[in-house]
Amino acid sequence: MSEYPLQLSDVELARYQFMAETAAASEADLWTAAGVVDGAAVADVGCGPGAVSAVLARLVGPTGRVVAVDRDPNAVAAARAAGAANLTVSEGAADDTGLEPASVDTVMIRHVLAHNGGREQAIVDHAATLVRPGGRVYLADIDMSAFRLRPKDARLVDLDDRYNEWHSRRGNDLSVGLRLGELLTGAGLEDVAHHGRYQIFPSRPGFRTPAWAALDALAADGLATPEDIDHWAAAFEEYDAMEVRPTMFVALFFAIGRRPAS
Ligand SMILES: C[S@@+](CC[C@H](N)C(=O)[O-])C[C@H]1O[C@@H](n2cnc3c(N)ncnc32)[C@H](O)[C@@H]1O
Repeated sequence: MSEYPLQLSDVELARYQFMAETAAASEADLWTAAGVVDGAAVADVGCGPGAVSAVLARLVGPTGRVVAVDRDPNAVAAARAAGAANLTVSEGAADDTGLEPASVDTVMIRHVLAHNGGREQAIVDHAATLVRPGGRVYLADIDMSAFRLRPKDARLVDLDDRYNEWHSRRGNDLSVGLRLGELLTGAGLEDVAHHGRYQIFPSRPGFRTPAWAALDALAADGLATPEDIDHWAAAFEEYDAMEVRPTMFVALFFAIGRRPAS
């Protein structure tokens, strides 16, 4: 069975860009508390196409550096293309990045744990080894069960149900955001902060949910027929045409763990 369902289309790249901009603005205080400051060394583990890595590279400035890691060669290529002088990108697993132990001030892991059922603790354990004593691990992940689009459309609820089923078959926890604090303390880190936010924003025309990026994976699992895909496409096109923009509700959680100083 394939392990990662989301294909990198232009629509998906735009979604990452939007998420990175939103995160930088709405989590600014938490990023600072996690050590994302001028001159810092930051690892972005499971960096995807590098939208967040590029923002981190800007924030740490020319005297800082960002090392970004992803196991997907397409994501690595996209992240390199998004590149900045103080950003290096390499291919590697989130629980075995190949980075030097204690080599960075901060490790950021965003929207990766939900794709790694049963491996979440191993990933956070590894991150804990990468930060220097006193350094921090920053986790951000979702509770997908609280995701809503309004106005509600039964076709898109059905699409999300199929997406959830795909993950559930692999033991993935799409509500892992609720467990971030436990994962940090399980890795021997001090739980410095654990916050949640319900982000509420209008969806732009052309916006598609993560489930839409997973159509190939759903089809391969027998969870999407061509007729299903036509229904879902029609529903999204109706959303695109709405004058009053539909509203998205996304439950996001953030946690910061500090490696004890000695
Ligand atoms: C949803 S994307 C998030 C990308 C980025 N962190 C962000 O928030 O914009 C998840 C990324 O994590 C990567 N990924 C998932 N599990 C991984 C693992 N075990 N090791 C390395 N990369 C992983 C995927 O290849 C994908 O690029």
